[in-house]
Amino acid sequence: MAKYPAKAGALLPALWMVQEAHGWISPAGMAEVAEALDLTPAYVKGVVTFYTMYHQHPVGTYFVQVCTTTPCNVCGAEGVVEAFLKATGARAPGETSPDGRWTIVEVECLGACGFATPVMINNDFVESVTAASVPALVERYR
Ligand code: FES
Repeated sequence: MAKYPAKAGALLPALWMVQEAHGWISPAGMAEVAEALDLTPAYVKGVVTFYTMYHQHPVGTYFVQVCTTTPCNVCGAEGVVEAFLKATGARAPGETSPDGRWTIVEVECLGACGFATPVMINNDFVESVTAASVPALVERYR
């Protein structure tokens, strides 16, 4: 907190720390951050629910974000999502695979429209993913 002019300035990094430690930010985690930074739990919850990067429920060990916005969609992004679901056993986007290791979500533009379909697996950015390349990609992370 010493890096910030006011305690509240540490809110986003503090939430990242909670998510890194627990995989998601629970109501108890929000309350703990609120108390440490002299904020109300409602304020912290407002921030957590505003940013899609914060997980409000447990997710798999590998959190896979697939861009399905129009430019990537016309290049086969829906097929990439389906291939991830099939390769991991997750039943639907947003659900976690039965082994608890994979959560696949569809997201808006990842800023790599020229390299459809881009995918983020945790903090790794992978470009030009196709439905055909997904099984090998999943195997590499296993
Ligand atoms: Fe997919 Fe931009 S539309 S990365």
